Amino acid sequence: MCGIICYIGKQNSVPILIEGLKRLEYRGYDSAGIASLDSESNNVLFVKSVGKVSELEKKVKSHKFKGDYGIAHTRWATHGKPTESNAHPHTDCSKKLFLIHNGIIENYEVLKRELEKKGHRFVSDTDTEVLAHLIEDNLDGNFEDAVRKSLGMVEGTFGIAVIHRDFPRKIIVARRGSPLIIGVGEGEYLAASDVNAFIRYTNRVIYLNDDEMALLNDDNIVITDLNLNRISKEPETIDWSVEGDDKKGFKHFMLKEIYEQPKTVENAIRGRLIEGEGISKLGGLEPVIEKIMNLKKLTFVSCGTSFYAGLYGKYIFERLTDLDVYVDYASEFRYRNLKLSEYDGVMAISQSGETADTLAALREAKRKGALVLGLVNVVGSTIAKETDAGVYCHAGPEIGVASTKIFVSQCVILNLIALLIGRRKGLSIFDGMNLIREIKKLPEHIKTILENGNVIRDIARKYLSFKDFLYIGRHLNYPVAMEGALKLKEISYVHAEGYPAGEMKHGPISLIDENFPTVAIATNGFTYEKIVSNIQEIKARNGKVIAIATEGNTEIEKIVDDIIFVPETIDILQPILNVIPLQLFAYYFADFKGCDIDKPRNLAKSVTVE
Ligand code: F6R
Repeated sequence: MCGIICYIGKQNSVPILIEGLKRLEYRGYDSAGIASLDSESNNVLFVKSVGKVSELEKKVKSHKFKGDYGIAHTRWATHGKPTESNAHPHTDCSKKLFLIHNGIIENYEVLKRELEKKGHRFVSDTDTEVLAHLIEDNLDGNFEDAVRKSLGMVEGTFGIAVIHRDFPRKIIVARRGSPLIIGVGEGEYLAASDVNAFIRYTNRVIYLNDDEMALLNDDNIVITDLNLNRISKEPETIDWSVEGDDKKGFKHFMLKEIYEQPKTVENAIRGRLIEGEGISKLGGLEPVIEKIMNLKKLTFVSCGTSFYAGLYGKYIFERLTDLDVYVDYASEFRYRNLKLSEYDGVMAISQSGETADTLAALREAKRKGALVLGLVNVVGSTIAKETDAGVYCHAGPEIGVASTKIFVSQCVILNLIALLIGRRKGLSIFDGMNLIREIKKLPEHIKTILENGNVIRDIARKYLSFKDFLYIGRHLNYPVAMEGALKLKEISYVHAEGYPAGEMKHGPISLIDENFPTVAIATNGFTYEKIVSNIQEIKARNGKVIAIATEGNTEIEKIVDDIIFVPETIDILQPILNVIPLQLFAYYFADFKGCDIDKPRNLAKSVTVE
């Protein structure tokens, strides 16, 4: 949520900041702004705009300004509507200070009242503007000191960057609870809330921890804590591709990412499977493997799509290991009064590695003594850093706000983790080898489904007039039904509910009529007959049914209205294939409706506020 990018060096900062904002736009896209300074003249370019970064870019181009350092921001509104005055950067009364912020200042009302009494005049409804005035109020000749003192007075979370015309060629950045990463280039520094924003310029990075502050200037960087004690940190070189940042001819990033999934699976399993022994090898878990083997209970905590991956993981772990497995929304887990010990494992599943609720759940688990593990995509993200051990997805950047390839990656890796544990406890070599063989076939199976994209597109077109959808699946396919419904609602704004099919008779069936179609996951498996009964019940009430079924199933064709075939694999992997047509159905449905697929309204890719 909200994206921050800063540059200081010898180049013109303006295009670098705009380009960085475009890469951060998935974090928030209701308004954007930039403040760039030219150190020779001390002139400033200060422009804000409502809407997408492209709107800001148009305005900025007309100024033809060159500035060798600056800060820029893309916003996802928390306090105040998306207007120009609420967009960042915010300034103080002197209009010399420019500040951008990601996070929430919880005590802003109290601070604002006090500052107003002292004569400060506010022009926005945001919590952030308070911090700009607070720094002005605390400024007594020393910029760093004023920032440090002000940060000590705020409650809440922040990733900030601030510049001041009276203190040229200095950018101060700081964080508490919101990500901030510094890029170390040749004679230049960048800072951003996500490495994607500057990875084209450098892959040498310094991660700021909570309550750390950094002063970036011409030729050095000084990192301190909020008491100004020096902290020494060497840049790390990261392995993060820029590959994800162009659409490669696809109309949207979401479609590109759906079509990338055969490769996503290959990346998830590369070097991690030893077929001859029927086991997996996950270097990230090795340091804690004995602790994992001693666990009595494992809980997956996550949000949204990552939660549904955890829900799927529960079934997989139950099948392959002897662990008691639970799954909880991170936003619920964090406030539960759980008794945890070293025999409890808590695994955070997160694409971004920055989701506020997931991070809070993890910290709560850690505080209570649990072993905390992570399944994360973004390398070096806060969750990845705060876990005791973990596994990366290695899926590259996911730019489309609706998660697709990461869900598939998470599901595949959950199999690998369960296999690692299961094989040490009773899972036979035969079962392990069989699972590995089937996992290896997934990329080809996914390609087969993707080749069928036109059929799915035609079905999506046929159902465009419907305003409500029910998605049902049983057992392993229940999480997939939930995920399919989430995909449709988030990008097309059409109501869709996911349900475990067995629950249908306990309420939702009353909704069914000719205007309320159902998407039924009805691939082969031990619950197949049950879901067919559910389909019959829907048909008996004039409900239309789109079925996801196993290739060659000619029987089901006779009872449903439309059918999407998928290749057959073993039942525990089948959901990984079944979700692909649901992603495509949602995509085409939203595309026909003309929705802004990569940036659905009100959403942001990385939810860094509670
Ligand atoms: C849905 C979606 C969200 C995220 C959720 C968790 O398509 O993308 O529901 O899955 O916000 O995000 P991460 O995985 O980054 O923790």
